[in-house]
Amino acid sequence: SEKAFVMIKPDGVRRGLIGKIVCRFEEKGLALVRAELRVVSHETAEAHYGHLKDKPFFGELVDYITSGPVFAMIVEGKGAVKNSRSLIGPTNPAEAPPGTIRGDYGLTVEENVIHGSDSPDNAAMEIDRFFK
Ligand code: GTP
Ligand code: MG
Repeated sequence: SEKAFVMIKPDGVRRGLIGKIVCRFEEKGLALVRAELRVVSHETAEAHYGHLKDKPFFGELVDYITSGPVFAMIVEGKGAVKNSRSLIGPTNPAEAPPGTIRGDYGLTVEENVIHGSDSPDNAAMEIDRFFK
């Protein structure tokens, strides 16, 4: 079945939210098939956010994602990509409804707790990038 790449960002790890967030995926029915706590290199961060290179916040975004360990995960199950995005909620936690991970655990778009792949193709690329 489908796989998605999900990553608890440094703010989520610093705040001790790994257990609670992993629980959301397990409760939904998505299985954790691989996971690692690690610091993302500058090179990997720039590749991961390459599509945002021209944004004014790109430098800040790379600094944020490399600021401490992340918890990188592969989750698997039916519709893993779509289902994990719906658990995560909209990009900006201020607009994310309660019940979503960003809605429950985040305040601002600068530190939005978690990443999830936005398509099966990107999931495959990200899994390759982080777990090769
Ligand atoms: P990801 O799951 O992390 O990819 O988020 P997303 O798919 O909901 O949003 P998108 O791919 O458009 O943006 C990637 C990340 O860039 C976001 O999750 C934020 O961490 C960051 N980001 C987006 N907009 C802003 C912004 O206006 N300011 C800052 N500082 N960061 C932003
Ligand atoms: Mg994205």
